[in-house]
Amino acid sequence: MRGLKGKTAIVTGAGSGIGRAIALRLAAEGVTVGVFDINEAGAGETVKAIEAADGKAVAVAVACDITDYGAVTAAVKRFEETTGAGTDILVNNAGWDTPMPFLKTEEAFWKKVTAINWFGPLHMTHAVAQGMAARKSGRVVNIASDAGRVGSTHRRGRVLGLQGRDHRFREGAGARGGAQQRHREHRLPRPDRHAGHGCLRRHR
Ligand SMILES: NC(=O)c1ccc[n+]([C@@H]2O[C@H](COP(=O)([O-])OP(=O)(O)OC[C@H]3O[C@@H](n4cnc5c(N)ncnc54)[C@H](O)[C@@H]3O)[C@@H](O)[C@H]2O)c1
Repeated sequence: MRGLKGKTAIVTGAGSGIGRAIALRLAAEGVTVGVFDINEAGAGETVKAIEAADGKAVAVAVACDITDYGAVTAAVKRFEETTGAGTDILVNNAGWDTPMPFLKTEEAFWKKVTAINWFGPLHMTHAVAQGMAARKSGRVVNIASDAGRVGSTHRRGRVLGLQGRDHRFREGAGARGGAQQRHREHRLPRPDRHAGHGCLRRHR
């Protein structure tokens, strides 16, 4: 990575896992890193690791729940006041999921998944994008799981379809031809012979 020295970056979910690795790498490049995580202790450990690895990079641990827009704007403000600069780079890394069969999921689960994985990056991006727009400079990097594209294990369209078959409903809202083609691929009965009224699209 080149040209990052002296930049500022916020990494969400940097209190552990991939986010911590990203924070450490950015810090090694001379970036002032904002270690944002709901887990304050984890964020503190990341800061210690950054400082132990490279005293030049400054890390700022911020306890921040990205699902809370007010907390996000306050945390970004605190980071920018501490560094005395705007945010050059935002890495939306924090994410959460628990693979389980769709039919076993509940409203609270859907709300948690969307609050963290969808609204979290929305809140963060909105909070930093205004400064980026004013400075006409900035980068936003979104880390996502393939689960966001094809569904988690046990919640994939195909699996949902098979669950639906057991429960006598069908998923699929694409063009009829495509849906038939896809059902053929998985040796399911033709969708037009039964109630094919599900609103969830099967993803490949
Ligand atoms: N680990 C994998 O195999 C894998 C694969 C594909 C994609 N990803 C994606 O990479 C990202 C990081 O994954 P990971 O495996 O390092 O996860 P992880 O669970 O180790 O770390 C996620 C971090 O996000 C934090 N977090 C959770 N909810 C938060 C909230 N509301 N506000 C602020 N912080 C919050 C957690 O405290 C944790 O420190 C996620 O977006 C995940 O979807 C991971």
